[in-house]
Amino acid sequence: MRDSCSTPRFSSIGTGNMNLLFEMEKWPVIIIFLTVQMSDSFSSAQVKEPDSNRMDGNEMNELGASFPPLEIPPLHFVTENNSFVTSQTGSTALVPCIINNVGDGMVSWIRRKDYHLLTVGLTTYSSDDRFQAIHLQHSEDWTLQIKFVQQRDAGLYECQVSSHPPISIFIRLNVVEARGEIQGPSEKYLKPGSGLRLQCSVLQSTEPPSYVFWYHNNRMINYDVDRGINVTTDLVEKMSILTITNADTRHSGNYSCVPSNAQPASTYVHILNGENPAAMQHGGRGLSWLQCSPSSWLLIFSIIIIWC
Ligand SMILES: *[C@@H]1O[C@H](CO)[C@@H](O)[C@H](O)[C@H]1NC(C)=O
Ligand SMILES: *[C@@H]1O[C@H](CO)[C@@H](O)[C@H](O)[C@H]1NC(C)=O
Ligand SMILES: *[C@@H]1O[C@H](CO)[C@@H](O)[C@H](O)[C@H]1NC(C)=O
Repeated sequence: MRDSCSTPRFSSIGTGNMNLLFEMEKWPVIIIFLTVQMSDSFSSAQVKEPDSNRMDGNEMNELGASFPPLEIPPLHFVTENNSFVTSQTGSTALVPCIINNVGDGMVSWIRRKDYHLLTVGLTTYSSDDRFQAIHLQHSEDWTLQIKFVQQRDAGLYECQVSSHPPISIFIRLNVVEARGEIQGPSEKYLKPGSGLRLQCSVLQSTEPPSYVFWYHNNRMINYDVDRGINVTTDLVEKMSILTITNADTRHSGNYSCVPSNAQPASTYVHILNGENPAAMQHGGRGLSWLQCSPSSWLLIFSIIIIWC
């Protein structure tokens, strides 16, 4: 086993056979015998696709035996070519590339928009370290991870194997901007003593938020139970509901729903002062009602007309 005959494939032969080898003089006979045995066991366990002659079949032919060359299984992309993935801004995008029988081929990721080489093997070439190839040893998965995805990351990505010639698949990354939305009009009018219910949904998101905060003007009110405020959030359903059972004028003002991973939404709540409807309260900000939107002016005028 120390001489020129020690090719790697003999390593699977037991020590008993090795002793035999050294004892006997008739090498070619034994080698042919062994290769017959081994090629039998190999061919029964292999996929047929005669497009490569790289295996040791050539050696055997040199030894004078005529067997078909042993084949390596063909490279095959499990991930569908020209498929797409969707991620929301700020999240971690995973662009998949699963390859069977990559052999000793190197897997690279290329951003097609500008032909920027992102990764080769496990090395990130981009100066943007949000890009990383995620691959466990011996796995067939060469997923490209992009942290803190931004709108400008959207586009085509190429997963390329350095075979001869190189072979690639293309995956499109769509980036969506998640946003909160409060149901109903952007301004709400209530009488004192009535109930207020604001429902905020997170739209266009690919993953649930980790929290939803509600603000009244600049104050975070999620836990203001003693001020009559009840916030109930279902993160999985990507929804949060704020209720005030007995609204009074100090509850008027700007309400914002701020999900952890989406654009906030807001609505303005007017609690009408029963005695003097024209003097609507804006969270105690004095004459700020002069900046009312057209719809609130319309309401003021219709109230005045009804009164006269
Ligand atoms: C994937 O599709 C592109 C065309 O969009 C083609 O050039 C490429 O060869 C395909 N890759 C594989 C592995 O079929
Ligand atoms: C808050 O509202 C939810 C329903 O929206 C209700 O189940 C819960 O009992 C309320 N909590 C309090 C303290 O009123
Ligand atoms: C309400 O608050 C939000 C967030 O602070 C702000 O973007 C929005 O302009 C405010 N709306 C009004 C009508 O003041």
